[in-house]
Amino acid sequence: MNEKPPVLDPKLQTSDDPRCIPITLDAPIEEGDAIAYPTYTAEEHETWRIMYARQRALLPTHACQEFLDGMAQLKFPDDRIPALRDVSRELDKATGWTLARSPGLLHEKDFFELLARRVFPSTDYIRPRTELDYTPAPDLFHDIFGHCPMITLPAFANFYQRIGQAAAKAEGDVRVGLVRIYWFTVEFGLVHQNGKDLIYGNGIASSFAEAKNSLTDAVEKRPFIPDKVAQQPYDIWHMQPILFVIDSFEHLEQSFDDWARRNGLVK
Ligand SMILES: [Fe+2]
Repeated sequence: MNEKPPVLDPKLQTSDDPRCIPITLDAPIEEGDAIAYPTYTAEEHETWRIMYARQRALLPTHACQEFLDGMAQLKFPDDRIPALRDVSRELDKATGWTLARSPGLLHEKDFFELLARRVFPSTDYIRPRTELDYTPAPDLFHDIFGHCPMITLPAFANFYQRIGQAAAKAEGDVRVGLVRIYWFTVEFGLVHQNGKDLIYGNGIASSFAEAKNSLTDAVEKRPFIPDKVAQQPYDIWHMQPILFVIDSFEHLEQSFDDWARRNGLVK
């Protein structure tokens, strides 16, 4: 067993870094238009500019059309950090999702409860320049650039809410399976499109190294079958050696729904 206990965004929860200690919310967090825009330094805006330019150049040949369309729809600025309330407004128009300002890594229960309400908790701080290629803690580049484009797509948005709803009842082995499905879809999913495997998982889309590695022959691609994915352990500390490929986002939504129903998680 080289797998750590399955937890959400698990690499964040096995470090001694204080940013990696999950936070339990004891009061509601700001949502949508109520989220103030922080004061960022010039260096922080520059970090966004560098990372955004790098991923934007790479993704047209690596990401699926829906991710690219979502990026365009969200109108990210090139040279400054976007405001959560602006991104939230665009998500609301597209699929009725909104953003909430997350103070950091949320406890899994709080995280899933927000997803079940079609609310995505996003951090509003950016990684230090020394962590351009890897950061152990959540930051706004992963949350905004990585997660939000796919939430503009109705089938994905519905699937994502369904994960939050299913989590409320998932326990034991079924919860382990649910977290594995989350990992291999939301974070590390591929979709077969126009004869190619392409990225939709935000953990790949927001990482330069993962994005380049994921489509090479170094990675074994398997068809997405929820029962199989739920049985597949993963090693969080290395590039993923196995990824699962969906046929379409409707296929993802329907096959997850079937799995959740068969396991008594949703009606
Ligand atoms: Fe994530």
